[in-house]
Amino acid sequence: MKSWVDIGFEIEITGDASPSLRLLQSVDASKDRGESMHHSGGACAETLMIYGEPIAQVVRKISNPHFLIVGLGLGYIELVIAREALLAGKEPEDIGLITSYESVPELREFFYQWLHDQDQSLHPEVRATYDRVLEHVIRETELSPGKLKFFLKKHFKNLSDIQTSLNADVILPSKYHCILYDAFSSKTSPHLWEEEFLNYILKTGTFERCVVSTYACKGTLKRALKQQNFEVILREGFQGKRNSTLGLRNL
Ligand SMILES: C[S@@+](CC[C@H](N)C(=O)[O-])C[C@H]1O[C@@H](n2cnc3c(N)ncnc32)[C@H](O)[C@@H]1O
Repeated sequence: MKSWVDIGFEIEITGDASPSLRLLQSVDASKDRGESMHHSGGACAETLMIYGEPIAQVVRKISNPHFLIVGLGLGYIELVIAREALLAGKEPEDIGLITSYESVPELREFFYQWLHDQDQSLHPEVRATYDRVLEHVIRETELSPGKLKFFLKKHFKNLSDIQTSLNADVILPSKYHCILYDAFSSKTSPHLWEEEFLNYILKTGTFERCVVSTYACKGTLKRALKQQNFEVILREGFQGKRNSTLGLRNL
C-alpha cells in the first residue's frame, strides 16, 4: 500500500487547514523541494475562488455543460463541480461531461479507489487526505460527503474515465464549455504553457460558449485566449498572488 512519499509527494496543510501535496523533488536544482499543488494560504479557498465561481456560472447558464480539468491532483476541482451542481439543484446526468487529465498514475488510482470506497486498497494516510479535502469542499453547505461522492462516481465509473497525461499531440475526446486549467507552473510543466499548445487546446477543445479559468497569468495564455476570440479578464490573484486569468467567450 503506497502513501504520498512513495509516489514522490508530501502533504502540506495550508492556511485554511485544507491539505495540498508538494513534489518532493524540484526541477530546479537550487531548491530542495518541488512545487506545491496549491497556494500555501489555502488549497480549498484558492480552488473555490479561482474555479468555483466560473463553474457555478456555467452550471447556471448552460444545460449539460462539458468540463475539462487539467491536473486532477487531489480532485478539488472535480469535487467543486459536484458541489456547485448540487447547490444548483442538478443531478449527475445534468452535467454532460467531466474530463480530467492527470499524468501521475497513482493520483488517478487513489482518487478513483477513494471515490468508490475501495478503502481496503488505500493507505490510511491517503484516505484521510481525501476525506479532509471533501470535508473542506462542503464546509458551509448542507451537502453530505456521500452526495458528492455519488455525484462523481456517476462521472468516473471506471478508472479509465480519468485521462492520463495531457501531451502535445492530444486529441481531446470532446469540446468543452468550461476549462479549468490547473497545471503546475511552466517551470515544472513547460509544454502545457506553450502558446501553440494552448491555441490548439482552445481551438479544438471549446464550444462557442466557453469560459476558461486558471490561477496563472501567463502571456502565452492571454495571447492564445485573444487569438481564439476570448475576452481576457484579469482577476485578483488568491491572497496577493499575481493576477489570475479568466477567458470568456459568448457567456
Ligand atoms: C497544480 S496540480 C493540480 C491540483 C488539482 N487541480 C487539485 O485540485 O488538487 C497539477 C497537477 O497536474 C498534474 N500534471 C502534470 N503534468 C501533467 C500532464 N502533462 N498531464 C496531466 N496532468 C499533469 C500533476 O501531477 C498535478 O497533479
